[in-house]
Amino acid sequence: MRSHYCEQVNEQELGNQVTVAGWIHKRRDLGGLIFADVRDRTALLQVVFDPDLQDMFAEANKLRQEFCVQITGEVRARPEGQINERMATGKVEMLATEIKILNRSAPLPIDYNQQVSEEQRLRYRYLDLRRPEMNEKIQFRARVASAVRRYMDSRGFLDIETPMLTRATPEGARDYLVPSRTHKGKFFALPQSPQLFKQLLMMSGFDRYYQIVKCFRDEDLRADRQPEFTQIDIETTFMSADDVRALTEDMVRNLFQEMLNVDLGDFPIMPYSEAMSRYGSDKPDLRNPLELVDIADLVKDIEFKVFSGPANDSKGRVAVIKVPGGARLSRKQIDEYTNFVGIYGAKGLAWMKVNERAKGMEGLQSPVLKFFPENVVNELLARVDAADGDILLFGADSQTVVTEALGALRLKLGQDFDLVEDSWKPLWVVDFPMFEETEEGFFALHHPFTAPIGVTAEELKANPGATLSNAYDMVLNGCEVGGGSVRIHDNAMQQAVFGILGIDEAEAEEKFGFLLEALKYGAPPHAGLAFGLDRLVMLMVGASSIRDVIAFPKTTTAQCPLTDAPGYANPAALAELGVALAERSGAKE
Ligand code: AMO
Ligand code: AMP
Repeated sequence: MRSHYCEQVNEQELGNQVTVAGWIHKRRDLGGLIFADVRDRTALLQVVFDPDLQDMFAEANKLRQEFCVQITGEVRARPEGQINERMATGKVEMLATEIKILNRSAPLPIDYNQQVSEEQRLRYRYLDLRRPEMNEKIQFRARVASAVRRYMDSRGFLDIETPMLTRATPEGARDYLVPSRTHKGKFFALPQSPQLFKQLLMMSGFDRYYQIVKCFRDEDLRADRQPEFTQIDIETTFMSADDVRALTEDMVRNLFQEMLNVDLGDFPIMPYSEAMSRYGSDKPDLRNPLELVDIADLVKDIEFKVFSGPANDSKGRVAVIKVPGGARLSRKQIDEYTNFVGIYGAKGLAWMKVNERAKGMEGLQSPVLKFFPENVVNELLARVDAADGDILLFGADSQTVVTEALGALRLKLGQDFDLVEDSWKPLWVVDFPMFEETEEGFFALHHPFTAPIGVTAEELKANPGATLSNAYDMVLNGCEVGGGSVRIHDNAMQQAVFGILGIDEAEAEEKFGFLLEALKYGAPPHAGLAFGLDRLVMLMVGASSIRDVIAFPKTTTAQCPLTDAPGYANPAALAELGVALAERSGAKE
């Protein structure tokens, strides 16, 4: 139906007849002439309708926004002064000779030129996606997926599908369950990731696997979390952690080069402990120059119990952030930051303004200055390399509270003081603890199939809290874009990890018997990683939410306003599944 996409209608076509097909983006009547911008997925093209061509002009008069049309005409240069450098087709226009209205459009329920609520945009997502900026993001995503496939194929990876109706795969979220009709009372779980299947594929000898695959997690949603999202899932045999990192880093470097013409360079590698201590986060945004500086050793003996208490407690932490230019903050602004860290459990936010460092104690201003001996202050100022105009913001509490509160404050200050560099800052975070210890016991920091570093099963059982895992996360601009690990390929080690996690033998057998069994038959060493495709694309296109790069995303309450899913099930269908409802949300009848 078309001879050209709009984008192809350029100066090389001057004088030629072309046919385009698309939608009326905008229509203007100007002194007898009608102008319309026709839109297809590639570009907008300006079309002029001349009143001398009477029949056609009458048709053009009927055009309204979003009518679907096929138009034939002659390409001509735009007059001087009407050239639009911002449009791909801005130097030309088309003088229409024929027009066919393929379909009319009712007045739009969403106005492209106005702020529309996200709920409304998602309700009419098919219209929202017609907007060029949205359409481009989804097209970009498709090209990213294609580039990933080309890269993985060229490195000998096999694309192998894994089941969607399966057993639970513990990745830390709740499962989406699907009742079985043929086995009443039993449920499939949708995979939180293909983790166990990709490990089994390595045991089957496929050596290199990848898949661009949907994963399902019923968890609290945020800007970078959806209940169904897409992973670039990778697993390899006989490769070390270094090998896997080198390969996947190269893939991402290639992707940025190809798609954005950006050279990411070599990614630095940072231990988890350093990330937490300097940035208060396991996914540090290295574009932000602010850092947390530990000062417990300096304040152990000062009179201020709020500081010396945690400084003398092995589970405590005292740290400070220096903000250049922060001395101009008002009392009210400092109070606001104090409230902000309160969200993370901090009981206060002591501060010190460096007005004139050369003047010693005189040149400082702080509600806690009276507690600080002069030599401590001098050491403190030297440690953070304080300059006139700086403010120091202190946190003193348990390690967890200080790290979380100052980690979040660091990000907020970076934004408020406009300190975040406009650049790409990738890194690897490695050497995570194997387990997190809480009052309810040990939890796996990654998943329970991650191998520890340098211990036997017996040594691990003896000291689980101190063991590091051979896991790695790829972080880009403060976002965890991927994570993976070397896996356990030994039955005894896998059983030891289950034991530490409080999964007894019977439960391990019930849930993961198939894995434990598979580990008995010559399972090879294997390792892998999964990227969040949505997150990678979100960063690459500069979107602030992964919803913008998913064609049909869910709202933050895990609903689809377009299809109105989830919906109630037909009682007959439920009966057939052997499912009875104890509760129905939103049902008043
Ligand atoms: P993990 O749970 O770290 O690892 O997930 C891998 C990557 O997937 C992305 N991601 C998400 N993206 C959007 N919405 C979500 N709800 C969501 N959850 C995770 C993140 C994350 O880095 N099986 C392991 C991988 C492995 O060990 O190979 C796994 O799933 O970018
Ligand atoms: P107070 O002695 O409670 O009046 O606190 C004096 C200063 O210390 C105030 O600026 C508080 O915000 C701050 N402060 C109190 N508790 C903490 C804490 N745990 N960490 C950091 N600063 C604190």
